[in-house]
Amino acid sequence: MIILCFTNTSSQPRICSMHTQSGDVSLKASNHHAAFQVGQHLIDPPLVLAPMAGITDLPFRRICSRFGLGLVVTEMIASRAIEYGRERTIRMAQVGDDEHPAAVQIAGSDPQYMREAARWAVEQGADFVDINMGCPVKKICKQIAGSAMLRDEKLVGLILDTVVAAVDVPVTLKIRTGWDENSKNMRRIARIAEDAGVQMLTVHGRTRSQMFNGHANWEDIGEAKSEVRIPVVGNGDVVDAESAKEMMVISGCDGVMIGRAVQGNPWVLGEVSAMLKGQPIPSEPIGEERWVVVHDHLQQLLMHHGERTASKLARKHVPWYSKGLAGSAEFRMSFQHCQSWEKQLLDAQVYFEKAYTSHAT
Ligand SMILES: Cc1cc2nc3c(=O)[nH]c(=O)nc-3n(C[C@H](O)[C@H](O)[C@H](O)COP(=O)(O)O)c2cc1C
Repeated sequence: MIILCFTNTSSQPRICSMHTQSGDVSLKASNHHAAFQVGQHLIDPPLVLAPMAGITDLPFRRICSRFGLGLVVTEMIASRAIEYGRERTIRMAQVGDDEHPAAVQIAGSDPQYMREAARWAVEQGADFVDINMGCPVKKICKQIAGSAMLRDEKLVGLILDTVVAAVDVPVTLKIRTGWDENSKNMRRIARIAEDAGVQMLTVHGRTRSQMFNGHANWEDIGEAKSEVRIPVVGNGDVVDAESAKEMMVISGCDGVMIGRAVQGNPWVLGEVSAMLKGQPIPSEPIGEERWVVVHDHLQQLLMHHGERTASKLARKHVPWYSKGLAGSAEFRMSFQHCQSWEKQLLDAQVYFEKAYTSHAT
């Protein structure tokens, strides 16, 4: 159990005590809010948007960035996909002029393909090349990529050495804590990464076999952190400013990465960012503010993907934005049946404006 005595508006929280798996620990509140440096870039605030396949495209990252992010990461790009030069792959790696620093994430288990993918990522405008060794999806693990890589430490070293030597920009790595409970090796992987010249490590505090079950183990993130001097970003189950702070205190990590909590709620980034900067936590968005963001997101989806794909993606994102609002369940259901882009726009506008009016009265 953790007893945290900090307030939302204070940059100097008082952490009273914490009960960890290894017993009671008294914690002094310390300043974990400082920006950190990766290569020539300052990660300020130390807040990173998690890569999420099918979600963190350029439009979504642009929406998120306005709420305060130190770093964005693209969706994972399979190193073998690059040689086909598909438009879709190029679009996935597209970095906006307005979103630096940005990392392009690549995945794969063949050093040769990874070298080429890393060089290609830099050509697309990547400030960092991020390597995915955390994806738990079966299809990826079968190709011995993503988190399956963690089972072959020699190959991890080889891939990292190869990619670091191939590009002039910083190489960063994202991992889980190991394959399963009996083979956690985040400490050794962290050491291999630092020795290879990796400049930032992100640790999702779950093993591969946990998938997304249970709770991320923030102490395990601390284990990796204690092994290296490079910045370590903690990830897993951060949902607001308080949980972000808690993870930083428990793990001692240098930065926070947030994923699922941002879906339909980019405002959470504003909250965490304010906490990290020691500023007052902004209040929840009202309906009108929500619609402005949803509308902008829809326009950006249209511009980036064209109507057909934008329409498909809108079916995912727009209902997320309605979560917790009055009439959300009915809206989600009816929105899935909108047959045209115009109808989607209109229905969303009617719903969110109504949510605004009912909030205002
Ligand atoms: C739909 C979805 C897609 C994801 N895609 C990626 C990915 O492409 N690359 C990656 O490293 N992690 C991926 N992840 C994992 C997230 O980056 C993050 O590690 C995980 O969601 C835990 O963080 P959270 O609790 O803040 O969501 C994905 C997660 C989700 C839910």
